[in-house]
Amino acid sequence: MDLYEYQAKEIFASHGIPTLPGSVATDPNGAQAVAEEIGGPVVVKAQVKAGGRGKAGGVKLAETPDEARSKAEAILGLDIKGHTTRQVLVTEASDIADEYYLSFLLDRANRSFLAMASVEGGMEIEEVAATKPEALARIPIDPIRGVDEAKAREIVEAAKFPAEITDQVTEIVARLWEAFVAEDATLFEINPLVKDPQGKVIALDGKVTLDDNAAFRQSKQSEYVDEGAEDPLEAKAKAKDLNYVKLDGEVGIIGNGAGLVMSTLDVVAYAGADHGNVKPANFLDIGGGASAEVMAAGLDVILGDPDVKSVFVNVFGGITACDAVANGIVQALKMLGDEAAKPLVVRLDGNNVEEGRRILAEADHPLVTLVDTMDGAADKAAELAAGK
Ligand SMILES: Nc1ncnc2c1ncn2[C@@H]1O[C@H](COP(=O)(O)OP(=O)(O)OP(=O)(O)O)[C@@H](O)[C@H]1O
Ligand SMILES: [Mg+2]
Repeated sequence: MDLYEYQAKEIFASHGIPTLPGSVATDPNGAQAVAEEIGGPVVVKAQVKAGGRGKAGGVKLAETPDEARSKAEAILGLDIKGHTTRQVLVTEASDIADEYYLSFLLDRANRSFLAMASVEGGMEIEEVAATKPEALARIPIDPIRGVDEAKAREIVEAAKFPAEITDQVTEIVARLWEAFVAEDATLFEINPLVKDPQGKVIALDGKVTLDDNAAFRQSKQSEYVDEGAEDPLEAKAKAKDLNYVKLDGEVGIIGNGAGLVMSTLDVVAYAGADHGNVKPANFLDIGGGASAEVMAAGLDVILGDPDVKSVFVNVFGGITACDAVANGIVQALKMLGDEAAKPLVVRLDGNNVEEGRRILAEADHPLVTLVDTMDGAADKAAELAAGK
């Protein structure tokens, strides 16, 4: 789960990382009130879970509360990379002497964590990495040993922070790591970390990604879940405990086992190229025990997707044999009744396949087409989605 900047900065502040005072507002009046409370110039910042807000016109300086109000009016409702701005952070404006970059992230490829730091902050770090790689220090972090003071100093030295602020930045690095571990995060990023004209180092922006797999031991993080911003189908699937990801195509996909579902997405995309370029509409893995309830829950989510034109059910019978899956499909369609109104292409293989196919053939449901091979079924589902 990604957090909003203001939430990231609340976490920073609670771990002793210097930030500036500010509050969120959802309308221009509220923004004006926050600016009045702060007194003096403020920055009004779009709170969306996307990067490049400044470039998109989502970060604006306001000298007076009146100006904060009009800047908030301009920013609220702004579309930033497909995200509508519904709230702004109004925060004290800082004079900036210098801008830096600092982050910790999970480095999956190397099975460790990585610290990245640069004195060339403020702009997009991808650009620094591409055009001036030597200006971005990358220090692997041993997950067991973590970041002690010596490691924090090593990071600060590698990035060549100016001598007069190394103590401050070392402290910030250590606290950022402490927060990163305490929150079970996969990304903690400060860009920019700034030095003000008095030489104080402050986090002006924050990006945090939390590891959803740790949600079970981070119960207080549930307050960050932003139901309004969640995809409604993904929210529905989550409520039913389904492993579902919405994609932007037309062929609904249900399979058992993540690997099988991934390859199903591939064959459907491939077959779709011959049928007006239709694509998979989702990822949905119903797992090993594909009971009628789970099948019904999965079909219910997929059939509720207005983009879906056909559904491909691709099941390989293992511990749960094909006859059980076939019965699951038949019962699921009964449970859904009239709500099941889109064609289903079913491919079954594996344990007890003959019996599974017999059950489906006997049920003879008008929406169901049985196809024996995965490629053949993908082609049929794509053809049906294309409406031919
Ligand atoms: N409180 C502030 N006072 C003064 N200047 C600020 C303040 N906050 C941001 N800025 C300036 O605006 C720039 C962009 O702000 P920020 O980093 O928060 O957004 P962004 O980088 O455009 O967005 P994103 O991080 O989503 O890509 C900063 O680099 C900084 O120069
Ligand atoms: Mg930024």
